[in-house]
Amino acid sequence: MTEPLLEVDDLTVQYETESGMITAVSDASFVINEGEFFGLAGESGCGKSTTAKSIIGGLDSNGQITSGKIRYRGTEIQDYTEKQLNEELRWKEIAWIPQSAMNSLDPLQTISEQAVEIGTVHTDLSKAELREKLKEMFSIVGLQESRINDYPHQFSGGMQQRAVIALALFLEPSLIIADEPTTALDVIMQDQIFKHLDEIKAKLDTSLLLITHDISVIFESCETVAIMHASQVAEYGTVNAVYDNPRHPYAFMFKAAFPDVREPDRELEVIEGYPPQLGEEIGFCSFVDRCPWATEECRESAPELEAVADDDPIHVASCFRKEEAYELYQSERPTTESQDGIAAMTNEDD
Ligand SMILES: Nc1ncnc2c1ncn2[C@@H]1O[C@H](COP(=O)(O)OP(=O)(O)O)[C@@H](O)[C@H]1O
Ligand code: SF4
Ligand SMILES: [Mg+2]
Repeated sequence: MTEPLLEVDDLTVQYETESGMITAVSDASFVINEGEFFGLAGESGCGKSTTAKSIIGGLDSNGQITSGKIRYRGTEIQDYTEKQLNEELRWKEIAWIPQSAMNSLDPLQTISEQAVEIGTVHTDLSKAELREKLKEMFSIVGLQESRINDYPHQFSGGMQQRAVIALALFLEPSLIIADEPTTALDVIMQDQIFKHLDEIKAKLDTSLLLITHDISVIFESCETVAIMHASQVAEYGTVNAVYDNPRHPYAFMFKAAFPDVREPDRELEVIEGYPPQLGEEIGFCSFVDRCPWATEECRESAPELEAVADDDPIHVASCFRKEEAYELYQSERPTTESQDGIAAMTNEDD
């Protein structure tokens, strides 16, 4: 097998706060291969942005990686200095579209001025060459090439977002990290952005780490997925396996909390309760207070991520009842005609 592009291996990240240390990411592991679209899902506060910021060296000053490794093309980067990150990784290898992407544009500079500034620092290309590259990316994200000389305020919100994506892409990074890239946009604009991401994938063979609290977006556009709950990866696997055969109760309840084009009539579920405080290591399942299938065992020790018995070699879940919980859940659900619907939609999609 070829070397993975990015490996996050047992990553733990803590923040120092006035009330003590909080663990925002706990022993998280996943792999992103060359050209792969990987989705990181989970409700607000579960540690998604912290994971992303750890990769690109963008943690807030009170945060630190306390254990684990991050490898990029096999090289450990978790201890890289700002200088190393800037010279070796940022923009050229790994581009970051932050959660508040639209605010990341400088209102006083045209998009092409911003691109030339970034490109001059990170490449040897001339200004003219950088502008040509930006034009190419504008056309890929569906913006007119002539508009590279516009100021951010001359664009609508959706167009600003696409301009940020074009800037992230124009030095042709191998990995794009997009943190909730469409949250601020309306549904039609979201669809357009994702259509463009699909085109980018086809044309540039870029890998994507897509962070979103909306797992239906990941099921539509990614190949692999990790679902985080309370700083931990609850389930990880190929999208096909996690969609068809979810094993962690949080994963399938979370999935049921979002609309699904394949089951348009299904009622959306609500996950009651809250995850535990993210303090020091907890000795029980973090989902225990919210889980309808919890047993004594779940309160007495913490389940580890373990392989799921199915055809997906990377599929893991951290639940003591992972081989039975989904079946229990399905047997308790009211039956619908959705199975026929799924078959019909799947055929149409092809
Ligand atoms: N700079 C910080 N200082 C203290 N706590 C933080 C800081 N940044 C994030 N957190 C906390 O870390 C946890 C994970 O946050 P985050 O990674 O932003 O989650 P997500 O992106 O999934 O919403 C949350 O409890 C959040 O409040
Ligand atoms: S380990 Fe227990 S409490 Fe945790 S998700 Fe599984 S069944 Fe629920
Ligand atoms: Mg976030």
